[in-house]
Amino acid sequence: MTAADPAAVARAVRDLPVRADLAGRQPYGAPQFDVPVRLNTNENPYPPSAAVVADIVAAAADVASGLNRYPDRDAVELRSALADYLGHGLTVANTWAANGSNEIIQQVLQAFGGPGRSALGFEPSYSMHPLITQTTATRWIAAERTSDFSLDAEQAAATIRRHEPDLVFLTSPNNPTGSATPLDVVETVCATAPGMVVVDEAYAEFARNRSATALALLPRFPRLIVVRTMSKAFALAGARVGYLAADPAVVGALQLVRLPYHLSAVTQAVALAALRHSTELLSCVSTIREERDALVRNLRALGLTAPVSDANFVLFGRFADRHGVWQALLDRGVLIRETGPPEWLRVTIGTPAETATFLAELKGVLDGSAAVVQP
Ligand SMILES: Cc1ncc(COP(=O)(O)O)c(C=O)c1O
Repeated sequence: MTAADPAAVARAVRDLPVRADLAGRQPYGAPQFDVPVRLNTNENPYPPSAAVVADIVAAAADVASGLNRYPDRDAVELRSALADYLGHGLTVANTWAANGSNEIIQQVLQAFGGPGRSALGFEPSYSMHPLITQTTATRWIAAERTSDFSLDAEQAAATIRRHEPDLVFLTSPNNPTGSATPLDVVETVCATAPGMVVVDEAYAEFARNRSATALALLPRFPRLIVVRTMSKAFALAGARVGYLAADPAVVGALQLVRLPYHLSAVTQAVALAALRHSTELLSCVSTIREERDALVRNLRALGLTAPVSDANFVLFGRFADRHGVWQALLDRGVLIRETGPPEWLRVTIGTPAETATFLAELKGVLDGSAAVVQP
């Protein structure tokens, strides 16, 4: 079956009485091409082992006989397992889970954003923050990072004081730059922001200093929300499990907007089974970190600029025609991501073989090409 022609669908959408503030907007659309090397959506390249798969299948089979009933609406067992995984003295009352951290972010915006309210983020950052903000009819305020993509605490505080947003988004490690946000910057933002502060820690497990997590600030800042996901380090992107840690009152507020039974019994069982194997699932993280640091060195050896990354991807550039480089790589069977500031591209850390192929093909693309902009 072939998908409908996107251009024809876009024209047909224009004839529908869609909300005026959505008119002309583009849906999220990272390409999903079936090519040999896919390094564009920051997935974990290591599939679950046969033992983990067997446990997931058994867990799903176990709940299958009860699928005539709705699932646990409050996902208590899962939230309690997530709290145990996070540590920091967190309990089930501090956690909430949903279908991916994108749904968590949507629920947060539904509860704390909305018409007449605003959310501020420091760009370049995760493209879904503004997109979900706008789909919840919240105004997006794009603030800037410094030229090396970092955040200056005083500058960030001044920006927040100027705009007084209802929500502030921080992403640490940041997508697409890979940079971790120092805890003192998060602390300054929490102390300054008049509303909620969301720290998106989707890539926390890949960070060099894993103890520098905003989870440590939760006892001091009751309006802080730390968002995590099982899509990255846990290698569970296909299961769609995201979660947050926050004050119990925040979790209470989210109950006002969550749909009843939003997290299926199968999803809850699969996530619980994966959490039982967390040591094994997370064992690939150190390999990915080593591969990432080696890739930064190899990209620099090619004469490119590649900032240090704390995530499972690397931003690199700069290119006069980044689309040309992206397309040439795709033509050679390597899909990476055209995202972030102009002149830059982002590549996810794959298996050693995938990374080697990416580097070899990139060399081929760059040889004899005038695409690289000298730093
Ligand atoms: C910073 C950040 N947050 C959240 C997400 C969403 O992840 P998921 O909805 O799979 O949990 C992503 C996905 O790439 C991301 O990069």
